[in-house]
Amino acid sequence: MKRRHFLSMVGATVAAGVTGCASSADDGGGSGGIPAAGTNVRDVPVGSLGSTGSRILLGRDAGGLYAMTSVCTHNQCDLSVYGTLSDSGISCRCHGSGYSRNGDRVKGPAIASLKHFKVDVAADGTISIDASTVVDATVRTAVA
Ligand code: FES
Repeated sequence: MKRRHFLSMVGATVAAGVTGCASSADDGGGSGGIPAAGTNVRDVPVGSLGSTGSRILLGRDAGGLYAMTSVCTHNQCDLSVYGTLSDSGISCRCHGSGYSRNGDRVKGPAIASLKHFKVDVAADGTISIDASTVVDATVRTAVA
C-alpha cells in the first residue's frame, strides 16, 4: 500500500507525534527548526524549503517541487525540529551533520544524503507526496 501524504492532512500527522533523537539535542529543539511548508503550490514560492510536519520536507527551486525525508541519516533526529535552515543548507543540531538544500550530505557524522520522494500537484494546486516512491534527488515536479 502506498503512503501518500496530502499536505492538507498535515495537522493529523503532527498529532501522531515526532520522535527521533531528541534526548541528544542540546537545546531540546527550542530554537531553529524548519518552518512549515505550504499545502498548495501557490503557497510554495521558488527558493522555499519547509516542513510538512510528517517527517518530510518540501522544497521548490527553478525546476519545480521536490520532497525529501526530514530524518537525519546519522541518528534519525527530525530536521523539521532539530535542523537549522540557511541559504547554504540544513544543519542538524543533534550532532552537527550538514546537508545542502537539496538534501545532499555535505558534512558528517551522517554518511548518506536525504532520500527524495515523488511529488504530485492536482489541478487545484494541492500538493501530495508519495513517501513510498523514492526518486532521484534531481527529480522535480514542474509547476504550471
Ligand atoms: S542525528 Fe546526529 S547529526 Fe543528525
